[in-house]
Amino acid sequence: MISFQQETDRALFENALAFAKKQVGALVKKHPDFYPMYTKKGKWKHEGAAWTHWCDGFLPGMMWIFEKRSEEKEAKVWRENAIRYSKPLEPRKLDREVHDLGFIFLSTYYRWYQVTKDESLRKVLITAGQTMGARYRDKGQYLRSFVSEESLFIDIMMNVGIVFYAARETGDKKLREIALRHSYTTRRTMVRGDGSTAQEGLFDTKNGEFLKQATHQGERGDSCWSRGLTWAMYGFATAYEYSADPHFLETAEACTDYFLSHTPNDGVPPWDYQASAESRKQVDTSAAAIAAAGMLRLSRMMQDPVKGHLYWSTANQIMRTLCTSYLGDKTKGWEGILKGGVYHMRKDLGVNESVMWGEYFFCEALDRLLRRV
Ligand code: GLY
Repeated sequence: MISFQQETDRALFENALAFAKKQVGALVKKHPDFYPMYTKKGKWKHEGAAWTHWCDGFLPGMMWIFEKRSEEKEAKVWRENAIRYSKPLEPRKLDREVHDLGFIFLSTYYRWYQVTKDESLRKVLITAGQTMGARYRDKGQYLRSFVSEESLFIDIMMNVGIVFYAARETGDKKLREIALRHSYTTRRTMVRGDGSTAQEGLFDTKNGEFLKQATHQGERGDSCWSRGLTWAMYGFATAYEYSADPHFLETAEACTDYFLSHTPNDGVPPWDYQASAESRKQVDTSAAAIAAAGMLRLSRMMQDPVKGHLYWSTANQIMRTLCTSYLGDKTKGWEGILKGGVYHMRKDLGVNESVMWGEYFFCEALDRLLRRV
Protein backbone atom coordinates (compact mmCIF):
# COMPACT_ATOMS: atom_id res chain seq x y z
CA MET A 1 0.00 0.00 0.00
CA ILE A 2 1.33 3.47 -0.86
CA SER A 3 1.17 5.71 2.19
CA PHE A 4 0.27 9.40 2.29
CA GLN A 5 3.85 10.17 3.34
CA GLN A 6 5.19 8.30 0.30
CA GLU A 7 2.84 10.22 -1.99
CA THR A 8 4.00 13.52 -0.45
CA ASP A 9 7.65 12.48 -0.80
CA ARG A 10 7.14 11.48 -4.42
CA ALA A 11 5.68 14.90 -5.22
CA LEU A 12 8.56 16.61 -3.38
CA PHE A 13 11.21 14.58 -5.18
CA GLU A 14 9.53 14.91 -8.61
CA ASN A 15 9.39 18.65 -8.09
CA ALA A 16 13.09 18.78 -7.11
CA LEU A 17 14.02 16.75 -10.18
CA ALA A 18 12.06 19.11 -12.43
CA PHE A 19 13.90 22.04 -10.82
CA ALA A 20 17.26 20.29 -11.33
CA LYS A 21 16.47 19.82 -15.03
CA LYS A 22 15.46 23.47 -15.30
CA GLN A 23 18.73 24.68 -13.71
CA VAL A 24 20.93 22.41 -15.82
CA GLY A 25 19.02 23.39 -18.96
CA ALA A 26 19.55 27.07 -18.14
CA LEU A 27 23.28 26.50 -17.50
CA VAL A 28 23.71 24.77 -20.86
CA LYS A 29 21.95 27.64 -22.58
CA LYS A 30 23.82 30.41 -20.78
CA HIS A 31 27.32 28.85 -20.87
CA PRO A 32 27.39 26.18 -23.60
CA ASP A 33 30.13 23.52 -23.24
CA PHE A 34 31.30 24.92 -19.91
CA TYR A 35 32.00 22.47 -17.06
CA PRO A 36 31.60 24.31 -13.75
CA MET A 37 32.79 23.29 -10.27
CA TYR A 38 31.18 25.64 -7.77
CA THR A 39 29.19 28.84 -7.78
CA LYS A 40 30.28 32.26 -6.54
CA LYS A 41 27.31 34.10 -5.06
CA GLY A 42 25.13 31.60 -6.87
CA LYS A 43 26.69 32.06 -10.34
CA TRP A 44 28.55 29.26 -12.10
CA LYS A 45 31.02 31.21 -14.23
CA HIS A 46 33.75 33.09 -12.36
CA GLU A 47 37.52 33.31 -12.02
CA GLY A 48 37.74 31.31 -8.75
CA ALA A 49 40.56 28.72 -8.54
CA ALA A 50 39.90 25.02 -9.23
CA TRP A 51 42.62 23.60 -6.91
CA THR A 52 42.40 20.35 -8.89
CA HIS A 53 40.61 19.28 -12.05
CA TRP A 54 38.14 16.60 -10.94
CA CYS A 55 34.54 17.66 -11.62
CA ASP A 56 33.93 17.46 -15.37
CA GLY A 57 31.88 14.25 -15.21
CA PHE A 58 29.20 15.59 -12.90
CA LEU A 59 27.33 17.83 -15.36
CA PRO A 60 27.00 15.19 -18.10
CA GLY A 61 26.36 12.63 -15.35
CA MET A 62 23.24 14.56 -14.36
CA MET A 63 22.18 14.66 -18.01
CA TRP A 64 22.39 10.85 -18.17
CA ILE A 65 20.16 10.66 -15.10
CA PHE A 66 17.67 13.11 -16.66
CA GLU A 67 17.66 11.09 -19.88
CA LYS A 68 16.58 8.05 -17.90
CA ARG A 69 13.91 9.99 -16.03
CA SER A 70 12.24 11.73 -19.00
CA GLU A 71 9.61 10.88 -21.57
CA GLU A 72 10.83 10.05 -25.06
CA LYS A 73 10.97 13.50 -26.67
CA GLU A 74 12.65 15.17 -23.69
CA ALA A 75 14.90 12.14 -23.15
CA LYS A 76 16.22 12.52 -26.70
CA VAL A 77 17.34 16.09 -25.99
CA TRP A 78 19.02 15.07 -22.72
CA ARG A 79 20.76 12.18 -24.48
CA GLU A 80 22.14 14.52 -27.16
CA ASN A 81 23.41 16.89 -24.49
CA ALA A 82 24.81 14.07 -22.37
CA ILE A 83 26.77 12.72 -25.35
CA ARG A 84 27.95 16.22 -26.31
CA TYR A 85 29.31 16.81 -22.79
CA SER A 86 30.63 13.26 -22.24
CA LYS A 87 32.61 12.87 -25.47
CA PRO A 88 35.23 15.58 -24.79
CA LEU A 89 36.17 13.74 -21.58
CA GLU A 90 37.53 10.68 -23.39
CA PRO A 91 41.21 11.82 -23.49
CA ARG A 92 41.13 12.02 -19.70
CA LYS A 93 41.15 8.21 -19.62
CA LEU A 94 44.94 8.65 -19.76
CA ASP A 95 45.12 11.52 -17.25
CA ARG A 96 47.82 10.69 -14.68
CA GLU A 97 47.57 14.10 -12.94
CA VAL A 98 44.40 13.41 -10.93
CA HIS A 99 43.12 10.60 -8.72
CA ASP A 100 39.54 11.22 -9.85
CA LEU A 101 38.95 9.05 -12.92
CA GLY A 102 36.12 7.25 -11.16
CA PHE A 103 34.28 10.52 -10.62
CA ILE A 104 34.84 11.47 -14.26
CA PHE A 105 34.01 8.18 -15.97
CA LEU A 106 31.56 6.33 -13.72
CA SER A 107 29.18 9.30 -13.90
CA THR A 108 29.42 9.49 -17.71
CA TYR A 109 30.82 6.62 -19.78
CA TYR A 110 29.51 4.01 -17.35
CA ARG A 111 25.97 5.45 -17.57
CA TRP A 112 26.32 5.84 -21.35
CA TYR A 113 27.48 2.23 -21.65
CA GLN A 114 24.43 1.05 -19.66
CA VAL A 115 22.21 2.74 -22.27
CA THR A 116 23.90 1.55 -25.49
CA LYS A 117 26.18 -1.40 -24.55
CA ASP A 118 28.57 -0.02 -27.17
CA GLU A 119 31.90 -1.85 -26.82
CA SER A 120 33.98 1.27 -27.49
CA LEU A 121 32.52 2.87 -24.33
CA ARG A 122 33.45 -0.14 -22.23
CA LYS A 123 37.01 0.15 -23.56
CA VAL A 124 37.21 3.77 -22.42
CA LEU A 125 36.14 2.70 -18.92
CA ILE A 126 38.73 -0.07 -18.86
CA THR A 127 41.54 2.27 -19.91
CA ALA A 128 40.50 4.81 -17.28
CA GLY A 129 40.57 2.05 -14.63
CA GLN A 130 44.02 0.93 -15.78
CA THR A 131 45.30 4.52 -15.63
CA MET A 132 43.97 4.82 -12.07
CA GLY A 133 45.70 1.53 -11.23
CA ALA A 134 49.03 3.00 -12.34
CA ARG A 135 48.84 5.33 -9.30
CA TYR A 136 49.57 2.34 -7.08
CA ARG A 137 52.57 2.55 -4.73
CA ASP A 138 53.72 -0.89 -3.75
CA LYS A 139 55.52 0.51 -0.72
CA GLY A 140 52.54 1.46 1.44
CA GLN A 141 50.03 -0.32 -0.85
CA TYR A 142 47.86 2.60 -1.87
CA LEU A 143 46.80 4.63 -4.91
CA ARG A 144 48.66 7.92 -4.47
CA SER A 145 46.76 11.20 -4.40
CA PHE A 146 47.28 14.02 -6.91
CA VAL A 147 49.24 15.94 -4.25
CA SER A 148 52.36 13.75 -3.89
CA GLU A 149 53.87 10.25 -3.78
CA GLU A 150 53.53 10.01 0.00
CA SER A 151 49.86 10.96 0.10
CA LEU A 152 46.65 8.91 0.18
CA PHE A 153 43.22 10.59 0.23
CA ILE A 154 39.95 9.19 1.59
CA ASP A 155 38.35 10.68 -1.58
CA ILE A 156 40.09 7.97 -3.63
CA MET A 157 37.64 5.40 -2.22
CA MET A 158 35.15 6.96 -4.67
CA ASN A 159 37.56 6.24 -7.54
CA VAL A 160 38.75 2.76 -6.70
CA GLY A 161 35.47 1.46 -8.18
CA ILE A 162 36.73 2.03 -11.70
CA VAL A 163 39.87 -0.01 -10.91
CA PHE A 164 37.67 -2.88 -9.66
CA TYR A 165 35.55 -2.49 -12.81
CA ALA A 166 38.53 -2.64 -15.20
CA ALA A 167 39.94 -5.63 -13.32
CA ARG A 168 36.63 -7.49 -13.56
CA GLU A 169 36.07 -6.71 -17.23
CA THR A 170 39.60 -7.78 -18.24
CA GLY A 171 40.07 -10.59 -15.72
CA ASP A 172 43.29 -8.84 -14.62
CA LYS A 173 44.08 -10.32 -11.20
CA LYS A 174 46.95 -7.91 -10.54
CA LEU A 175 44.67 -4.93 -11.06
CA ARG A 176 42.05 -6.43 -8.75
CA GLU A 177 44.74 -6.95 -6.12
CA ILE A 178 45.66 -3.25 -6.43
CA ALA A 179 42.04 -2.19 -5.81
CA LEU A 180 41.77 -4.57 -2.84
CA ARG A 181 45.09 -3.50 -1.30
CA HIS A 182 44.23 0.20 -1.66
CA SER A 183 40.90 -0.39 0.07
CA TYR A 184 42.51 -2.39 2.92
CA THR A 185 45.17 0.29 3.45
CA THR A 186 42.56 3.04 3.51
CA ARG A 187 40.47 1.04 5.98
CA ARG A 188 43.47 0.42 8.24
CA THR A 189 44.99 3.90 8.23
CA MET A 190 42.16 6.38 7.57
CA VAL A 191 39.09 4.98 9.34
CA ARG A 192 39.22 5.33 13.11
CA GLY A 193 37.77 3.08 15.80
CA ASP A 194 34.66 5.25 16.12
CA GLY A 195 33.96 5.17 12.36
CA SER A 196 35.18 8.72 11.72
CA THR A 197 37.70 9.33 8.93
CA ALA A 198 40.80 11.37 8.15
CA GLN A 199 41.09 12.98 4.73
CA GLU A 200 44.77 12.27 4.07
CA GLY A 201 47.28 9.64 5.12
CA LEU A 202 51.03 10.28 4.81
CA PHE A 203 53.51 7.46 4.23
CA ASP A 204 57.27 7.06 4.28
CA THR A 205 57.99 6.48 0.58
CA LYS A 206 61.24 4.64 1.38
CA ASN A 207 59.72 1.78 3.34
CA GLY A 208 55.93 2.33 3.00
CA GLU A 209 55.39 2.94 6.73
CA PHE A 210 52.22 4.84 7.57
CA LEU A 211 53.26 8.04 9.35
CA LYS A 212 50.21 10.14 10.21
CA GLN A 213 46.72 11.40 9.39
CA ALA A 214 46.49 14.85 7.82
CA THR A 215 44.00 16.98 5.92
CA HIS A 216 43.61 19.52 3.12
CA GLN A 217 39.91 20.28 3.31
CA GLY A 218 39.06 19.39 6.90
CA GLU A 219 39.63 21.35 10.09
CA ARG A 220 42.58 19.25 11.30
CA GLY A 221 44.39 15.98 10.66
CA ASP A 222 42.54 14.37 13.57
CA SER A 223 39.10 15.85 12.85
CA CYS A 224 36.34 14.35 10.72
CA TRP A 225 35.72 16.35 7.53
CA SER A 226 32.10 15.43 6.76
CA ARG A 227 32.44 15.04 3.00
CA GLY A 228 35.39 12.68 3.48
CA LEU A 229 33.23 10.60 5.80
CA THR A 230 30.49 10.38 3.19
CA TRP A 231 33.00 9.49 0.43
CA ALA A 232 34.02 6.60 2.71
CA MET A 233 30.40 5.51 3.31
CA TYR A 234 29.72 5.35 -0.40
CA GLY A 235 33.18 4.18 -1.47
CA PHE A 236 33.43 1.21 0.90
CA ALA A 237 29.93 0.14 -0.16
CA THR A 238 31.21 0.08 -3.75
CA ALA A 239 34.34 -1.86 -2.73
CA TYR A 240 32.06 -4.41 -1.05
CA GLU A 241 29.86 -4.65 -4.15
CA TYR A 242 32.84 -5.52 -6.35
CA SER A 243 34.75 -7.74 -3.92
CA ALA A 244 32.07 -9.29 -1.65
CA ASP A 245 34.66 -8.86 1.13
CA PRO A 246 32.59 -8.35 4.32
CA HIS A 247 35.33 -6.17 5.87
CA PHE A 248 34.40 -3.40 3.45
CA LEU A 249 30.73 -3.64 4.32
CA GLU A 250 31.65 -3.45 8.03
CA THR A 251 33.69 -0.31 7.33
CA ALA A 252 30.90 1.31 5.31
CA GLU A 253 28.52 0.58 8.19
CA ALA A 254 30.94 1.92 10.81
CA CYS A 255 31.30 5.21 8.87
CA THR A 256 27.53 5.40 8.36
CA ASP A 257 26.90 4.81 12.05
CA TYR A 258 29.27 7.69 12.85
CA PHE A 259 27.29 9.86 10.43
CA LEU A 260 24.00 8.82 12.06
CA SER A 261 25.15 9.51 15.60
CA HIS A 262 26.90 12.83 14.92
CA THR A 263 24.66 14.56 12.37
CA PRO A 264 21.75 16.81 13.42
CA ASN A 265 18.27 15.30 13.05
CA ASP A 266 17.59 17.06 9.75
CA GLY A 267 20.40 14.96 8.20
CA VAL A 268 22.64 17.82 7.06
CA PRO A 269 26.12 17.68 8.65
CA PRO A 270 28.41 20.55 9.55
CA TRP A 271 31.32 20.87 7.08
CA ASP A 272 33.61 19.32 9.72
CA TYR A 273 32.34 17.58 12.86
CA GLN A 274 35.14 18.92 15.05
CA ALA A 275 35.28 22.51 13.76
CA SER A 276 34.58 25.20 16.38
CA ALA A 277 30.95 25.73 17.43
CA GLU A 278 30.84 28.92 15.35
CA SER A 279 32.40 27.36 12.27
CA ARG A 280 30.20 24.26 12.56
CA LYS A 281 27.18 26.43 11.77
CA GLN A 282 28.32 26.12 8.16
CA VAL A 283 26.75 22.94 6.82
CA ASP A 284 27.82 21.00 3.76
CA THR A 285 24.75 19.95 1.77
CA SER A 286 26.96 18.08 -0.70
CA ALA A 287 28.03 15.74 2.12
CA ALA A 288 24.33 15.27 2.94
CA ALA A 289 23.53 14.38 -0.70
CA ILE A 290 26.46 11.94 -0.92
CA ALA A 291 25.40 10.36 2.39
CA ALA A 292 21.85 9.91 1.07
CA ALA A 293 23.05 8.34 -2.20
CA GLY A 294 25.50 6.12 -0.29
CA MET A 295 22.91 4.99 2.26
CA LEU A 296 20.46 4.11 -0.52
CA ARG A 297 23.12 1.86 -2.05
CA LEU A 298 23.99 0.39 1.34
CA SER A 299 20.37 -0.21 2.31
CA ARG A 300 20.02 -2.90 -0.34
CA MET A 301 23.18 -4.69 0.85
CA MET A 302 22.00 -5.10 4.44
CA GLN A 303 21.23 -8.63 5.64
CA ASP A 304 19.37 -7.12 8.58
CA PRO A 305 16.11 -5.62 7.23
CA VAL A 306 15.83 -3.27 10.22
CA LYS A 307 19.22 -1.73 9.44
CA GLY A 308 18.38 -1.63 5.74
CA HIS A 309 15.21 0.26 6.52
CA LEU A 310 17.05 2.63 8.88
CA TYR A 311 19.49 3.58 6.10
CA TRP A 312 16.74 3.96 3.53
CA SER A 313 14.49 6.06 5.77
CA THR A 314 17.42 8.26 6.88
CA ALA A 315 18.33 8.89 3.26
CA ASN A 316 14.68 9.77 2.64
CA GLN A 317 14.73 12.22 5.57
CA ILE A 318 17.95 13.87 4.33
CA MET A 319 16.42 14.33 0.90
CA ARG A 320 13.24 15.79 2.38
CA THR A 321 15.33 18.36 4.21
CA LEU A 322 17.39 19.20 1.13
CA CYS A 323 14.25 19.56 -0.99
CA THR A 324 12.38 21.72 1.51
CA SER A 325 15.16 23.90 2.96
CA TYR A 326 18.09 24.06 0.53
CA LEU A 327 16.82 24.24 -3.06
CA GLY A 328 17.94 27.35 -4.92
CA ASP A 329 14.41 27.92 -6.24
CA LYS A 330 13.56 30.57 -3.66
CA THR A 331 16.63 32.72 -4.36
CA LYS A 332 16.24 34.95 -7.38
CA GLY A 333 19.06 34.50 -9.90
CA TRP A 334 20.62 31.49 -8.09
CA GLU A 335 21.99 29.23 -10.83
CA GLY A 336 22.61 26.06 -8.82
CA ILE A 337 20.20 23.40 -7.61
CA LEU A 338 21.31 22.95 -4.00
CA LYS A 339 22.50 25.76 -1.76
CA GLY A 340 24.76 25.32 1.28
CA GLY A 341 27.61 23.29 -0.22
CA VAL A 342 31.27 23.74 0.64
CA TYR A 343 34.28 23.05 -1.57
CA HIS A 344 37.41 24.14 0.30
CA MET A 345 36.97 25.99 3.57
CA ARG A 346 40.69 26.59 4.17
CA LYS A 347 41.21 28.10 0.73
CA ASP A 348 37.85 29.88 0.92
CA LEU A 349 36.66 28.31 -2.34
CA GLY A 350 32.97 27.64 -2.83
CA VAL A 351 31.80 28.17 0.75
CA ASN A 352 28.01 28.14 1.20
CA GLU A 353 27.52 27.75 -2.55
CA SER A 354 26.25 25.19 -5.05
CA VAL A 355 28.90 22.58 -5.89
CA MET A 356 28.79 20.25 -8.90
CA TRP A 357 29.29 16.98 -6.97
CA GLY A 358 26.52 17.99 -4.57
CA GLU A 359 24.21 18.56 -7.53
CA TYR A 360 25.15 15.21 -9.08
CA PHE A 361 24.74 13.04 -5.97
CA PHE A 362 21.53 14.88 -5.11
CA CYS A 363 20.15 13.87 -8.52
CA GLU A 364 21.47 10.32 -8.09
CA ALA A 365 19.66 10.04 -4.73
CA LEU A 366 16.46 11.48 -6.25
CA ASP A 367 16.65 8.93 -9.03
CA ARG A 368 17.13 6.05 -6.55
CA LEU A 369 14.27 7.26 -4.32
CA LEU A 370 11.87 7.79 -7.20
CA ARG A 371 12.46 4.23 -8.31
CA ARG A 372 11.21 3.03 -4.93
CA VAL A 373 8.71 5.42 -3.36
N1 GLY B 1 38.69 16.67 -2.99
C1 GLY B 1 37.42 16.32 -3.44
C2 GLY B 1 36.37 16.97 -2.63
O1 GLY B 1 36.40 18.19 -2.54
O2 GLY B 1 35.55 16.29 -2.07
